[in-house]
Amino acid sequence: MSSAAKLNTGDIKYTPTDGIPSLKKAIIKYTEENYDKVVAPENVIVSGGAKQSVYNILYSLINPQDEVIILAPYWVSYPEMVRMVYGVPVVVTPEDGSFYPKMSDVLKGISSYTKAIIVNSPNNPSGVMYPPEFIAELVEFCEKKGIYVLMDDIYHKLVFDGRTAPSCYRYTKKDIESTHVVVINGVSKLYGMTGFRIGWAIANRQLVEIMSNVQGQITSCTSLILQAAAEGALTGLQSAIDSLRMTLENNRNVMLQELHSFTGVKTTKPDGTYYCLPDFRAYSNDSVKLSELLLKKALVVTVPGKEFGMEGHLRLSYATSIKDIMEGVARIKWALDPNSPNEIYIGDRKLVRDWQ
Ligand SMILES: Cc1ncc(COP(=O)(O)O)c(C=O)c1O
Repeated sequence: MSSAAKLNTGDIKYTPTDGIPSLKKAIIKYTEENYDKVVAPENVIVSGGAKQSVYNILYSLINPQDEVIILAPYWVSYPEMVRMVYGVPVVVTPEDGSFYPKMSDVLKGISSYTKAIIVNSPNNPSGVMYPPEFIAELVEFCEKKGIYVLMDDIYHKLVFDGRTAPSCYRYTKKDIESTHVVVINGVSKLYGMTGFRIGWAIANRQLVEIMSNVQGQITSCTSLILQAAAEGALTGLQSAIDSLRMTLENNRNVMLQELHSFTGVKTTKPDGTYYCLPDFRAYSNDSVKLSELLLKKALVVTVPGKEFGMEGHLRLSYATSIKDIMEGVARIKWALDPNSPNEIYIGDRKLVRDWQ
């Protein structure tokens, strides 16, 4: 039943804490089609966005002082969430200076307190997708050690160059009840429904039950209307995801082309997502200051790499128009090139250089 139909029939009450059965059914089908994994309704919990799922999992799993490995660059919320449940975030940064962690990097972060590792690939903020060999090795290692692999798969279909994201489930030798793999997903990124706040987690029954108890005491359930809308997205025409992916791939190409003509800036090619994370250390090691300068003087919004555990970098989004991508990079170039004119029009904006 659609959201509007629910309003018309007065179906406006609380839902089961873990989600309405018809949405869970759509999620089960999605899991089968995209992950080749058959799961039961008891393995699914719907939450207020993937974000709430990640937090609920951590709240349910982590005891004080338990360690959670986070691969840098990482989504800003992970370390904070781990601290909020009194865990210890252990940030692992690839030693070779790339955005691709190796198993040898991960091993350096492992201790007897390691309870979980959070994997986000394709990755926010770098856009890179970890190779299948790494995912395979990681899953095998973690399952042997009893460490949870929390796979935040929110961008898993926004992958470019004809590739597909390697799924953790492909490499687990265990069934859903004994695997330590937990997959988190949602409608925010694939369907552009960020404001609908619907995400979910697929895990063993025991963990889902604990998460339901946690969620039940905090939000009771997510909105019925928005669950119905998410169900509509999952069961409707899926071609919208393909067109979003194609647009983003084209935008990524334009962003890379513009950044390649930028002296000193090094960019790792994003394999997917909405973002890239160029290295601006040739201009500044202080990404917060650099980001502030670009915001105030060039009127371009960037996110400092420091927030993602990658100082000296800036996260740029190409989830916008080609015109804005080209103008945005042109403004950054103007602001950082000491030889650029003091006054310039880029697009319809007059920019004035009044700093050293
Ligand atoms: C890696 C990652 N996970 C989770 C989220 C949040 O997803 P949701 O809107 O479903 O809470 C985001 C949003 O930026 C994200 O980048």
